[in-house]
Amino acid sequence: MNPALLPGRPHFAYRGNRLFVEDVCLADLAKEHGTPLFVYSKASMLAALAAYQRGFAGRNVRICYAMKANSSLGVLQVFARAGCGFDIVSGGELRRVLAAGGDASKVIFSGVGKTREEMRQALAAGIGCFNVESEAELEVLSEMAMLSGATAAVSVRVNPNVDPKTHPYISTGLKGNKFGVAHERALQTYRRAAALPGLRVVGIDCHIGSQITEETPYLDAMDRILDLVDVIEAAGIPIGHIDFGGGLGIDYNGDTPPEADALWTRLLARLDARGYGGRPLMIEPGRSLVGNAGVCLTEVLYLKPGELKNFCIIDAAMNDLPRPAMYQAFHQIVPLQPREGEAATFDVVGPVCESGDWIGRDRALNVASGDLLAVLSAGAYCMSMASNYNTRGRPAEVLVDGASAHLIRRRETAEDQMRAESLVR
Ligand code: LLP
Repeated sequence: MNPALLPGRPHFAYRGNRLFVEDVCLADLAKEHGTPLFVYSKASMLAALAAYQRGFAGRNVRICYAMKANSSLGVLQVFARAGCGFDIVSGGELRRVLAAGGDASKVIFSGVGKTREEMRQALAAGIGCFNVESEAELEVLSEMAMLSGATAAVSVRVNPNVDPKTHPYISTGLKGNKFGVAHERALQTYRRAAALPGLRVVGIDCHIGSQITEETPYLDAMDRILDLVDVIEAAGIPIGHIDFGGGLGIDYNGDTPPEADALWTRLLARLDARGYGGRPLMIEPGRSLVGNAGVCLTEVLYLKPGELKNFCIIDAAMNDLPRPAMYQAFHQIVPLQPREGEAATFDVVGPVCESGDWIGRDRALNVASGDLLAVLSAGAYCMSMASNYNTRGRPAEVLVDGASAHLIRRRETAEDQMRAESLVR
C-alpha cells in the first residue's frame, strides 16, 4: 500500500507532506474557511454508490439514500443527480429532498412516529412509499390518505429478530427494539393494511442495524423476510417490492465490512436461489455512501500536559462530532502536515464543558498548537447530528469535486442561532 494513501479512503492522500482530498489541499481549505470545517469528496460518494450499482447490474433496484446520515443540501444534490431516491424520517427531511431537486416519487418515509401533519405533507408531495412501523400507524395513515383524496402506498417494516452484531444503540432489528412489526404479527398487519380503504400494499421492508461488518446477519434477515413474503402472498396479498434497508458498515479503524458489490452479489444469489430474482428491490444505505467521503478539519488550540494524561485541545467538539461521546465511536485523527520526530500520547478533546467531550483517546500524535488535524470518517452522522450546545455555531461544509471546492454551508453565527428566540416583553 502506498503510504501516502489513507486506507479505505482512495480520494484522500498525502502529496509531499500535505493531505489532499481529490485535487484540493485540505490545509488551504482550512485557511480559507476556518475550522472546524467539514469537507466532502464528491468522487468518494459516487464511488461508494458505484459499488452498489455494480452489485445490482441488470436488476430492478432503487437505491434510496438514507439521508439522516448527512442531509446537507449539497450532498443530497449529488445523490439526486445520480438518480437515487431518498429514505426520509421526517417532514423536514422531505423539505430538504425537494429543495435539493430530489424526485418525490422516489422517496420512502421510514420511522416509528410519523405525525399526521408529516403524513399530509408526504401525501401532498406524492412520495413513493410509506414504510409503516405499526398497526396503529396504518389506521392513521389510511385516515389521512382518505382526507387528502389519495391512496397511500405502504410497505410494512418487519422486525426480523436478527442480531446485526453491532453497537446496541444502533441495532434495530431485534425483538427488544422499538422498530418494525414483529415477524409473528406481520401477516395480521398485512391483512389489516390490505383491508384499509386509504392504503395500497406495495412492498415489505426491514432494517436490522447500522455499521454492520458481517454478511451473515444480512443473509439471515433476507431468509426471514422471504419466508414472510411466501406466507403473505399465499394469503392472497401481493407484496410488490422488497426493501432490505441499509446498515452496511465502513472502515473506521481497520474494520473490514464486505464491499457493497461483493455483498450484493452473494445476497442476490440467495434471492435467485429462493425464486425471487425478478422482484423489484430497494435498499436504504446511509453511512456506506458518505461516511468515508468526509473529514472534519480542526485546529489544535492548546497542549495541556498532565500527570495522568496529556490533552490535545482542539477547536472541534462533541457538538460537531457527537459519535465518540454517544457511542464511544472511534474516528482516526491525522495531521494535515505531518511533523518529523517523536509522537506523544494525547486524549484529543474539545472545548465543550463536559468530560464526555472527547474525540479520541490515547492517540499518538506529534503536534503543536496551531497545527491542523483531520478527523476521518466524518461524512456520516456527524454534521447531521451536530448541535449548538454551548452556543457553538455549527461548522461550515465544503464539497470538493476534482480541483473545485464548493462551500455548501457557511459557518453558523450566534445570530443564526438566536433567530427564532425572543425576549419576554
Ligand atoms: N434505514 C433505516 C430505517 C434506518 O433506521 C437507518 C439508520 C438506515 C436506513 C441507514 O443505515 P446506515 O446505512 O446508515 O447504517 N447515528 C448512528 C447511526 C444510526 C442509524 C440509524 N438508522 C451512528 O452514528 O452510528
